[in-house]
Amino acid sequence: MTSLEKHLDERDLARSLRADVRDGLTATPKRLPPKWFYDARGSRLFEDITRLPEYYPTRTERLILTENAAEIARITDAKTLVELGSGSSEKTRLLLDAMLSRGTLGSFVPLDVSESALVEAVQSLGVAYPGLSISGVVGDLTRHLRHLPDGDNRVVAFLGGTIGNLVPEERTAFLTDLHAALHPGEWLLVGADQVKDPGTLVPAYDDAAGVTAEFNKNVLHVINRELRADFDPLAFEHAAVWDPDREWIEMRLRSVRDQTVQIKDLNLTVPFAAGEEMRTEVSAKFRRDGLTAELAASGFALRHWWTDPQGWFGVALAQAVQI
Ligand code: SAH
Ligand code: AVI
Repeated sequence: MTSLEKHLDERDLARSLRADVRDGLTATPKRLPPKWFYDARGSRLFEDITRLPEYYPTRTERLILTENAAEIARITDAKTLVELGSGSSEKTRLLLDAMLSRGTLGSFVPLDVSESALVEAVQSLGVAYPGLSISGVVGDLTRHLRHLPDGDNRVVAFLGGTIGNLVPEERTAFLTDLHAALHPGEWLLVGADQVKDPGTLVPAYDDAAGVTAEFNKNVLHVINRELRADFDPLAFEHAAVWDPDREWIEMRLRSVRDQTVQIKDLNLTVPFAAGEEMRTEVSAKFRRDGLTAELAASGFALRHWWTDPQGWFGVALAQAVQI
């Protein structure tokens, strides 16, 4: 049984895109939030990224889940699995299989801002898991956590390292909201990419085939279409930069020349100087101790930690505690 609930309709999306684009493109330095990559094309490009040889996070997290899903199911006895930023929910099948064979799981609630990715995932999961109640939620994980269905013994999965796409203040707000939406004893399963050699990190965000560059520029196509803008994607170059102090990768779009961009629906003209860089994504990398402290500060006690043999990616299982 499948259903779809929308907390973001076309009008909400348009309103928040307009606000983000106006704020971000009039700021110095210019910036755009990464959630706008994910229209249907952006979601497909992300799936292509997950199969690139340089992009190790997806296959590494899959390996960790393959080895530990049965234990996660045993520890949590989940009745409801919620997934935030669910995308294709491909790796989540490992959790669904383990939780179903444990016999506790009754429902799955994937939430994503990308309606196209969500609809596709819900349809194909509905075929694969006919006995499971699957309720897709089109929503923004930074705004709509209070709309999660109530229940008991919920496990909230936040996979792929997407927590790293939130800057530290957004992470704190997110974890605080999530804690408020959960009952003590319920669970957060979070995948976090680990700090490692920049020689491994940078190519993962600047692949030889140029798929990440296309993904990065997709935000320009989205703004052109949704806000009647005239960005020329060929006039911007993709850049991926490791910031060793903040321990995050920044994706940027660099203007190849002096240019002005018109954003008709905002009545806005945006000047770009040659070489000017606009930040389009932060992808923070974590250390176990730092993540444990961040979780604890928002009322989540780390109970288990799994990693791969190289320590490249970590999966944390934390429990909401009373604060
Ligand atoms: N969890 C999947 C997909 C990761 S890609 C995996 O591990 O492979 C990141 C996903 O988060 C995309 O599907 C994107 O649409 C979604 N997303 C990004 N920002 C979001 C937000 N603010 N609210 C809800 N979903 C978001
Ligand atoms: C979804 N998220 C965890 C990806 C990441 O690695 O930060 C998005 C991405 N950006 C570039 N490549 C992939």
